[in-house]
This record gives sequence, structure tokens and C-alpha cells, in this order.
Amino acid sequence: MKKVKVVEIGPRDGFQNVKEFIPTETKLRIIDQLMAAGFQKIQITSFVSPKAIPQLRDCRQVVEHCLAKYPKNKLFALVPNFTGARLAVEAGLTEISPVLSLSESHNMNNVKRTVAQSIEEMKKIRQAFPDVKITQDIATAFGCPFEGEMPVEALVELVGKLHVLGIRAFTLCDTVGLAYPTLVEKVFRTVKKAFPSDEFNVHIHDTRNMGILNSYVALQNGADSVQSAVGGLGGCPFAPGASGNTSTEDLVYMLNKCGYDTEIDFAALLKTAKYVHSVIDGNFSGHQINIPEKPCVIRQV
Ligand code: COA
Ligand code: ZN
Repeated sequence: MKKVKVVEIGPRDGFQNVKEFIPTETKLRIIDQLMAAGFQKIQITSFVSPKAIPQLRDCRQVVEHCLAKYPKNKLFALVPNFTGARLAVEAGLTEISPVLSLSESHNMNNVKRTVAQSIEEMKKIRQAFPDVKITQDIATAFGCPFEGEMPVEALVELVGKLHVLGIRAFTLCDTVGLAYPTLVEKVFRTVKKAFPSDEFNVHIHDTRNMGILNSYVALQNGADSVQSAVGGLGGCPFAPGASGNTSTEDLVYMLNKCGYDTEIDFAALLKTAKYVHSVIDGNFSGHQINIPEKPCVIRQV
């Protein structure tokens, strides 16, 4: 069986776009259920300005609770700048995902910096925290809500600039769901060829119902892990048209059927997704949460 790493990012990307504050206890209960379902790696929050994303203002509490309870799991957080990286490391995290965008306009909208300024910020982060694992998020890697489809050459150039800073792991993010299978194939083949020893993960939004397909194509073309959000919750508040991530339960269901070993307990995951759906008023793109119990017999031959 082919092993595949499914990285749950619902507690960050999923929650960040929800208007009403989700009580910290509810966030922790959801993370507990995800842990029980078998996730080894979860993005549990982000250390961003509470003015920009008030929903995640409890980031420190969430991190402290989870590190104490799950010391063996890989827990990480998104950070938009040096301040966020410092706060995340002070809270005890040993892995962070700094974010910058491939497109200038989304980077400015999202983190109020030019791409060059963000690269300088990444340099400071890399130098200040040499022992922290950095998995660099590249937003709008496939397309931008303001600039449209992004050329793969520009992505290779940006990865190159980050690579020379010592950053060796990347997550290519389809922030508003503009990717499509042949583009995903081209992007993964190109970056893997240009940087064969670097890690490339995939993060897709399901805006146009291509989340599962694009994630699958990324895996087939060498993606080291696939990110998704429970229930298909998610979206960037600074990207017009942003919608939910690929839903983790839809993804795990598909991967299980296709013979991948996800090490996730699907029944426990689906129960968690339904719980999230029942307690959060948000934008869910998942399909499995709406299927009634025992709708029909799905026989595997
Ligand atoms: N965490 C907490 N507080 C932060 C912070 C962080 N990472 N970065 C900055 N701040 C605080 C500063 O301390 C300052 O506080 P003050 O007003 O009380 O003095 C304030 O925010 C402004 O700081 P500044 O450096 O000028 O930030 P900014 O206004 O230029 O905002 C970002 C830039 C990146 C901090 C902000 O745009 C942000 O957090 N964006 C979130 C992006 C995001 O998460 N998008 C979705 C995921 S892709
Ligand atoms: Zn996202």
C-alpha cells in the first residue's frame, strides 16, 4: 500500500474565515477529535495580527494546550511576518509555515508587503530560528484573484530565492481554487525537477469542485503531503472569491478507495466533520457531511 501524508489544516485555514468567534474549548475539542482520528500533523492556528484575523486571537492558548497534550505529534502554525514567527517559537512550536504570495497584489492585500519585503522577512526568520523547521507557504502559487493564472517560471524563480536562504520545504497553495489538473501536473513536475531534494506539499481550495482531483494529481506527480480541512471549511479573508479547502473526509475517502494508506480512521474523521458542521456557522465544501447514514451499499470488488 502506498503511504500518503494527509495534513489537517482546518483549525487554521478552516477557522480563520469564520466570523463568529469559535470558543477556544470548541477549537480544542475539534483538535482532540482529529487527533483521535489519527492525524500525525495538524496546523493548529496562526500567529497573525488579531486585528487582521480576530478569530485566531487565542493562538497562544491553543498551542500551549496542544503541545502539552500531544508532545509527539507534529503541530505547526502559519505566520505572516517576523513577529508571528517569534511569538510561535516563544509558545513552543518547532515548526512554522511563514506565508508569502507568488503574486504581488495578493501579497500586499494579505500581509501588506511587497513580495521582496516578504522575502526579506523570511530571511530574518530563517536566520533567527535556525533550529525551527520552516515549511514555506506560497499562496496564489497557481493563480491569483487579482492577477489570474500565475506562470510556473515565476514560481520557480521565487522558490529559488527562498531556497538560497536555506528554506527547503514548501507548500504550494491554490488560494482561490484556480488550479486545474494539467496545471497542477506541470507545476509539480517543474518544481520537483528544478529542486529535486526539496519538499513540496499541496494545498488546494475546492472553489470549482476540483479540489480532490487536483490533490490527487499533485500526489501522482510527487507531492510530499496533501493539506485539507475537515468539513471543507476554509478560505482567505484577504482573497475575494475564496472558498473552502478540499475536505479532509472527501479526500481520505478517495485515497482509501484508491489504495493509499492514510492511517486515518475514516469513521472517526467523518464524525468529527459532522460535529464541526453542527457547531460552526461557516462555509463547508465537503460532500460526505451531507450524505445520510447508510445511503446505499458501496461494495468494493
Ligand atoms: N501577531 C500578533 N500581532 C502582530 C503580528 C503578529 N504576527 N504582526 C504584527 N502585529 C501587531 C503589531 O504588534 C502591531 O500592534 P499595535 O497596533 O498594537 O502596535 C500591529 O499588529 C501592526 O503591526 P504591523 O507590523 O504594522 O503590521 P501590519 O498592520 O502591517 O499588518 C500583518 C501586517 C501581516 C501582521 C497583518 O496583515 C496580518 O496579520 N495578516 C494576516 C494574514 C493572514 O493570516 N492571511 C490568511 C492566511 S494566508
Ligand atoms: Zn488556504
